[in-house]
Amino acid sequence: MMMEVQEFSTDYLQALNSRSNSAQIDLRSCDFTQMKQELLMVYDKKVERWLQAMDLYDNEITDHTLRVTAFSLKLAQCLGFSRSDLAYIQYGTLLHDIGKLGIPEKIMHKPGKLTAYEYQVVKQHPLYAHEWLLSQKDYQPAKVIPLFHHERWDGGGYPYGLRGREIPIFARVVAVADVWDALTSDRPYRKAMSEQEALELISSQSGKQFDPQIVGTFLSREIYKCCQANVFHPI
Ligand SMILES: [Fe+2]
Ligand SMILES: [Fe+2]
Repeated sequence: MMMEVQEFSTDYLQALNSRSNSAQIDLRSCDFTQMKQELLMVYDKKVERWLQAMDLYDNEITDHTLRVTAFSLKLAQCLGFSRSDLAYIQYGTLLHDIGKLGIPEKIMHKPGKLTAYEYQVVKQHPLYAHEWLLSQKDYQPAKVIPLFHHERWDGGGYPYGLRGREIPIFARVVAVADVWDALTSDRPYRKAMSEQEALELISSQSGKQFDPQIVGTFLSREIYKCCQANVFHPI
C-alpha cells in the first residue's frame, strides 16, 4: 500500500500546539522548521488517531512525544540521516510511547515513586507498542523505535538487553532525546532538572546508557536548544 504523505503540520498538531500557554514555542517555528517544511513527512490518519487516543489518556505523554519528536528530528538531521530516514524517525517517535496506553492508569498517574512491581509493569510498554503496530506494514523501519527506545548502549536496558550497535540506530537517537526531555520536564514525583544538571547527566552516560557518537552530536550541536522543552506545557 502506498503511504499517504502530507505535511507535518496538521490541524491536530496545530491544536496540540495551541495548548502552549505562551507564544514562546511552537513546534513548527523552532529553528528546524525549515527542515520540516522541506520534508514531506510520513504522516497519516492512523498516526493521528493514535495521538488522539494518547492525548485522551494523558496529554502530558502527548506533549512529551511531540517534544521528543522535535529533538530527535533535529538530532538525526545533524547526524546526516537521509530524508526517508527522517520520515521514519518522525513516524516511530510519534508512536514511541504508545504502549503506555496499555499501562493501568493508577500506575501511570501515580503521584509517588513506583514500586518494583509497578516499574516492571511500565517496562512492558515497548512490547505493547510492538504488538499493536505489528500489523502496520507501511512503516516497517520506524517500528524499531517504540520497541527499542529503552535499550542501553551498555546492555542494561529493556526489553531485550541489546548492547551497542545491536540496538537499531533510530532507537539510539531517540533514546537520547527521550531522556533529555524526561529529565527537563516536571514529573508527578519530582521537579525538572536544570539544563546544566541534565547536560551533565547526559554527558556522564555517554558510552554507558547512550551511543557516544550520538551524545557527542547532541552536545556539540546544542540540539537541546532547538526546542525549549520547559516552556511547552499543556494549559
Ligand atoms: Fe518509553
Ligand atoms: Fe518517551
